[in-house]
Amino acid sequence: MRTESPSATRREDYQAPTFFIDHVALSFELEPSATQVEATLRIRRRSEGDLVLYGQGLTLRELSLNGQPIPAAQIEHFSGNIALKNVPTEGTLCVRSQCNPEANSSLEGLYITGGTFCTQCEAEGFRAITYFPDRPDVMARYTVTMRANKAAYPVLLANGNLVSQRDLPDGRHEAVWDDPFPKPSYLFALVAGAMSVLTDSFGTASGRKVRLEIYAEEHNLDQCHFAMDALKRAMRWDEQAYGCEYDLDQFMIYCADDFNFGAMENKGLNIFNAALLLGKRETATDTDFQRIEAVVAHEYFHNWSGNRVTCRDWFQLSLKEGLTVLRDQQFSASVGSPAVTRIEEINFLRQHQFVMDAGPLAHPVRPDAYVTIDNFYTTTIYEKGAEVVRMLHTLLGADTFRLGTDEYFRANDGTAATCDDFVAAMEKVSGRDLSQFKRWYSTPGTPTIKVSEHFNAGTRIYALTLAQSNPSGREPLHIPVAVGLLDVAGRETHPTRILELTQVSQTFYFENVSASPLVSVLRGFCAPVNIEIERSDATLAFLAQHDTDPVNRWDAFETLKQHAVAALMQNQPIHIGFFTTVELLLADRATDPAMLALMLNMPQAHEVSTLKKGYAPLAVVGACAGLRTILLSRFAKALRVVLAYTAADAAYAFKVDQVGRRALHNTGLDLLCHGDAPEDIERASAQYQAADNMTDQLAALVALSESAHPQRNHAFAAFVSWFAGEPLVVDKWFAVQAQSARHGSIATIKALMAHPLFDARNPNKVRAVLAGFSMRNWAQFHATDGSGYEFIAEQIIAFDARNPNLSAKLTGAFNRWRETNAAVQAQQRAALQRVREHNGLSENVIELVDKLLADDLQG
Ligand code: TRP
Ligand code: ZN
Repeated sequence: MRTESPSATRREDYQAPTFFIDHVALSFELEPSATQVEATLRIRRRSEGDLVLYGQGLTLRELSLNGQPIPAAQIEHFSGNIALKNVPTEGTLCVRSQCNPEANSSLEGLYITGGTFCTQCEAEGFRAITYFPDRPDVMARYTVTMRANKAAYPVLLANGNLVSQRDLPDGRHEAVWDDPFPKPSYLFALVAGAMSVLTDSFGTASGRKVRLEIYAEEHNLDQCHFAMDALKRAMRWDEQAYGCEYDLDQFMIYCADDFNFGAMENKGLNIFNAALLLGKRETATDTDFQRIEAVVAHEYFHNWSGNRVTCRDWFQLSLKEGLTVLRDQQFSASVGSPAVTRIEEINFLRQHQFVMDAGPLAHPVRPDAYVTIDNFYTTTIYEKGAEVVRMLHTLLGADTFRLGTDEYFRANDGTAATCDDFVAAMEKVSGRDLSQFKRWYSTPGTPTIKVSEHFNAGTRIYALTLAQSNPSGREPLHIPVAVGLLDVAGRETHPTRILELTQVSQTFYFENVSASPLVSVLRGFCAPVNIEIERSDATLAFLAQHDTDPVNRWDAFETLKQHAVAALMQNQPIHIGFFTTVELLLADRATDPAMLALMLNMPQAHEVSTLKKGYAPLAVVGACAGLRTILLSRFAKALRVVLAYTAADAAYAFKVDQVGRRALHNTGLDLLCHGDAPEDIERASAQYQAADNMTDQLAALVALSESAHPQRNHAFAAFVSWFAGEPLVVDKWFAVQAQSARHGSIATIKALMAHPLFDARNPNKVRAVLAGFSMRNWAQFHATDGSGYEFIAEQIIAFDARNPNLSAKLTGAFNRWRETNAAVQAQQRAALQRVREHNGLSENVIELVDKLLADDLQG
């Protein structure tokens, strides 16, 4: 019994809107269970056809044109939407409707979080607030009038500038906001509630003063300072790096407890998931601070890349997201260690995007079709999209690239643009033909570049042949490949040179090469591709120790680690080069400790992205644990030395050198505690108790989390009782337990979900427990009896009724199911089928499950 698949929207079907909306006046009477919305639209015909107003779950009260009710014959209702026929060329349309924020558990549209009204409109949530041509290419100026009970909702915020505020009878009050910049409806936002504000200001490059405000609960204001400082750094950076200056008189951020995503760039009123905004030394880790800084910057940067210039349709989503991710990555590199920042990005891309691109959910950066646009907020759109823009930066050079973004912002300001428009700006300023490059936008899957080499000692010419292919067999791509040559002593004889691979296979020549060189290829990870090159483990070890490009140095050792895991899975010995490299890393006091931490960090099963199809997940778990055990048997002593010299020597500060030192220290602690020796457990326990910051405290908790010693339970009990009033810290406590191979069984998961501090309405909590368990705890999720799969299937079904966006994310647990062996596949298929057969499933989940099962449906 299988329900019909929902229908898809196709890129090729794009049609321009039939009407311009010159102005929107919105008026809200805010009541939790019955909010009245009146929308007055000044409309002007643009082309033939009906005026389509999308709506979702709304009660329509009135529909009039120029003050006259619209005759029923002119109104066509279809799946909640309205098509108006024979609309005159100009007029004023008035729509009155009602919605129920209190009953809205989807966290899309107008909803209530912590007693405060809050909105989320991207991608198509505005239609749950009012009937509207809710599509990004309809850009309008908005004036918003909000009325609410003053005692319950003393603060009333919306996009733009505050125009007026006054008291009304019956304890109500009113605020009027005006946003002078035309925007698409997905950038609309309002917030109404009782909150406090942290205020600051920023002087722009042209000398205007902008008021900066972060709104949060009173008791959280002390955790907003870091975000405020990050915001100012980001504003300055965007002026300097991109010439982008802020345009309104005020910039506001609202901190929401319940939020589906990280944050949202609504014009002048960003809304943030508290987890990506709040933090102080005692509650946030170094990694949290880095993410907060990156996301604050990301949302702020959208003001130009996304808001001033937006997307014509949702197929162009990467136009704003890819560019904005690149911009936040560049910003992060400028405030942190560039090499380490880059390596972390590559690691993320490979573990998530490459894996997705190799499976049933693969799609191009500019997709051709979707059922639910929410499902396309993927790492392909975001991170691969950023890599595509980065390649343009590499190919054109920083200066020309900047001319290109200037041209892009200038030419498209105030409009809804396409990926083609972006590339066109780059073509214009560079005079280059980028038509082949544009294939990156339409080619799914990760390309592979096969490398072969030939050295002629007589002519001293080294020939490097690069042959590309991509999984969908499409036309060859235009790929920048940065290459350097090293000699056998590890000296760089030929510095980095950018080769442009445009054909299926091309040979590049290097002259004056005195002896057979070692090639360092794809330096800086300058293209999102896989490199296939025949290299012995001895060569990899050499590069891991000597490559002058930090990314490739790290990468060589990553490959060696993956080889070590593969060797253990096949009962083969691990190459000696792996151990000599570890030994050198442990003794290395010259390299950036953050870099050493990355290199010494041994993979968990879910992080091994290069597994051969048909593996048994539990065998990977075993091999990863085995690798740690072997390392410990050789290097426990050396690790303890590292721990000693990386111990805290100053009061906590979020500074690059301290962050690196802590990363190395805590990586070492984690490795050591894998052995569960009393001495090391005691050390972690002491660190737990002494820590003056969450980085060291959480690292100690994680190091203890697999222990069989009583210190483990003591620490977990102490942690939750101490931090019970800090929900974001409690989320960490949930996540660490859910991820524990030894202790995170389904029984534990169920107990966590029944814990008084758990809250099924809060996506952060649900993700901490369920995503932690299903995506980062292979030992338990892949339990041989299939119980983990069944359990997650049940949870997907249960959460879908409440929040489709959230439950769609939980299906990610099954994204890699086809990689596993037949027996494991059978269990996962059964779980997926069980989800699919549930009645009343959301389109979000249906779309993903159908794709995951696609080959079965065909077969
Ligand atoms: N545009 C947001 C960003 O990338 C993310 C976003 C998309 C989002 N859809 C969302 C946030 C839904 C919250 C809810 O910055
Ligand atoms: Zn974004």
